[in-house]
Amino acid sequence: PKVTIKSAVFVGSAVERAGYPGESLPEVAFAGRSNVGKSSLINCLLGTKKLVRTSRTPGRTQTINFFRINDAFFFVDLPGYGYAKVPAAVRARWGPMMETYLKERRTLRAVVQILDFRHPPTPDDLALWNWLQATGVLTLPVLTKADKVKKSLRSKNLAQAAAALALTSCDLIVFSAVTREGRDLLWDRLMPLVVP
Ligand code: GTP
Ligand code: MG
Repeated sequence: PKVTIKSAVFVGSAVERAGYPGESLPEVAFAGRSNVGKSSLINCLLGTKKLVRTSRTPGRTQTINFFRINDAFFFVDLPGYGYAKVPAAVRARWGPMMETYLKERRTLRAVVQILDFRHPPTPDDLALWNWLQATGVLTLPVLTKADKVKKSLRSKNLAQAAAALALTSCDLIVFSAVTREGRDLLWDRLMPLVVP
């Protein structure tokens, strides 16, 4: 069944747990390196251009941002990692902020981990992936910016990412916020997680 977005509302940003909205609805969070395309992917899924702020400047999203969709579930835009120019104070709080959220959010159903299809996973990508596996968080890996990858490189890049994550290629969703490739497939995997 195709998902219809009836409403998508920004409900707030948080750094501390006290700032999270109540644990009343199922939730999916989106994580990845700074500038990888997290906010664009969320906008693409929702069919909105501007609900989630996107930017050419990496490290723009520095807090945990909650969006309520159809009054039925939350999407959560997590701050990106791996960008050296983010101020040291912001970088220092990233780890505890993420760890608290990912470990303690009882309504969290899955994390969509977004990777750049153009390049192999970075050490930071692998560190998050391994931590999520070890912590037992269901993680859906998505390879984005597929519109930037030549046809001739797709299967090589896919195999490379799968090997790095110890998965098979069919576990990975190839995505583009520009062409919307992978959008329906990702929704197919998300739907069962967010419907009651
Ligand atoms: P931070 O919030 O800074 O961590 O970044 P982000 O991961 O939310 O990335 P964002 O969605 O802001 O996108 C970063 C840049 O990549 C922007 O210039 C986007 O237009 C571009 N971008 C995002 N997704 C795609 C995609 O699928 N294809 C192409 N070609 N560009 C993309
Ligand atoms: Mg962002």
